[in-house]
Amino acid sequence: MINRKDMIDLFRASSAYINAHRGKVFVVLLSGEAQADGNFSNIVYDLSLLHSLGIKLVLVQGARPQITAALEKANMNSSYHRNLRVTESKCIEIVKQTVGILGINIDALFSTGTRNSPMHGSDIRLCRGNFVTAKPAGIHDGVDFHFTGKVRKIHATAINKQLDQGSLVVLSNLGYSLTGEVFNLSAEEIATEAAIALNAEKLILMIPEDGVIDDEGQLISSLSESDAKKYADKKAKLLDEESKCISQALYASLRAYSNNVHRTHLISFKSNGALLQELFTREGNGSLVSNDSFDKLREASISDVTGVLDLIRPLENDGTLVERSRELLENEIQNFKIIEFEGAIIACAALYPIDFQSGEIACIAVEPNKQKNGYGEQLLASLEKNATELGFTKLFVLTTVASHWFIEKGFSEANLDELPDQRKKLYNMQRKSKVFLKKLS
Ligand SMILES: CC(C)(COP(=O)(O)OP(=O)(O)OC[C@H]1O[C@@H](n2cnc3c(N)ncnc32)[C@H](O)[C@@H]1OP(=O)(O)O)[C@@H](O)C(=O)NCCC(=O)NCCS
Repeated sequence: MINRKDMIDLFRASSAYINAHRGKVFVVLLSGEAQADGNFSNIVYDLSLLHSLGIKLVLVQGARPQITAALEKANMNSSYHRNLRVTESKCIEIVKQTVGILGINIDALFSTGTRNSPMHGSDIRLCRGNFVTAKPAGIHDGVDFHFTGKVRKIHATAINKQLDQGSLVVLSNLGYSLTGEVFNLSAEEIATEAAIALNAEKLILMIPEDGVIDDEGQLISSLSESDAKKYADKKAKLLDEESKCISQALYASLRAYSNNVHRTHLISFKSNGALLQELFTREGNGSLVSNDSFDKLREASISDVTGVLDLIRPLENDGTLVERSRELLENEIQNFKIIEFEGAIIACAALYPIDFQSGEIACIAVEPNKQKNGYGEQLLASLEKNATELGFTKLFVLTTVASHWFIEKGFSEANLDELPDQRKKLYNMQRKSKVFLKKLS
């Protein structure tokens, strides 16, 4: 059970995100797999919370596994080509029925409002309509896709009108052609094209894993365009359904990325609360493909020593930072994280272990003309996360000039005696730095 103080801290810490997201358009893909998962009702609760916080939501409803099951039940197996289902004319009625049933189930979930439900009082209006104009996918490599379609147009003005009136817009994977026919489309394609047409702040793709996982089994929380391409190509070569799904999501993020949708989140549909954690905490809980500076935050390596020295020398010279020789920095560079901007190191900070329970933040510096952009905060948050992962419960910092900055980041002034003995012995009495401490949970 979360204690009162943690709850208050958590709520306060989320206010910056609440303010940043209010009034923004998020397009969320709810794949058929996500709808079939036991966690889906929690996702609906969380989406309704986002709606209550003033986020304009466009939900895109997939139906792939449900259509496969319905076709199999009717002894109508369908084939795939280029990762797209071939929808023959005999199948389209079953596709329509399946998509209709899924839509009704979603409407019902969003209508929940009993007193004991998190949806109590939310009173959400869902809006559906002919917002997607489709065209036939055509014939490729001699394969006729029949009633499988592609997006011809997303009617962004009409969608925006509904969003402005406070509705939550739901798009299914069906599109309507100018000839009055119904086409079966890829929900990923609709979500991506809708995000582009609406100039959405975020495209959110629900996937079966926690995010993109690297070769060591670690979640990659932030991916650049080139990383996303590398992992998309790698996953595309694997045959299992989960890898296929993640490669499709990454390709969708790349298309969004090159069309001005600057942030695509890949979030697990299996993990309860992952959406809230990703959107309202700095640590997140998924993988973000983005083109902003956060992508460039990384661990320093020996080749960064010169760049870090260039950054910190002026601050050493004016006494803000303790002097470090090149040799010392070469030995300690593994403790540093840096932020790179167009090839130059513009910010750095280090985490030094003191003992098994405590660590020290040191040498935090941001290029003067890049300050006040949140880089310092990003580095601190990233090192705090490392400290927590290392099992540290106490994080110290010794500073002469930045006490208020650290207080604003949750540190409190401490006595010299609170420093572990081995660090106290190295305390420089002439600098008279103040000691600050943050307890980590
Ligand atoms: C402290 C420092 C790392 C912060 O980096 P940053 O990227 O500018 O920080 P953020 O963008 O996350 O935060 C900026 C906010 O912190 C404030 N701030 C910056 N330095 C501060 C200080 N010494 N005391 C109090 N507030 C400070 C800024 O005024 C700004 O607030 P505002 O948005 O209300 O105007 C950076 O100012 C710096 O490099 N300073 C010189 C080196 C230094 O003092 N290092 C600390 C050694 S222990």
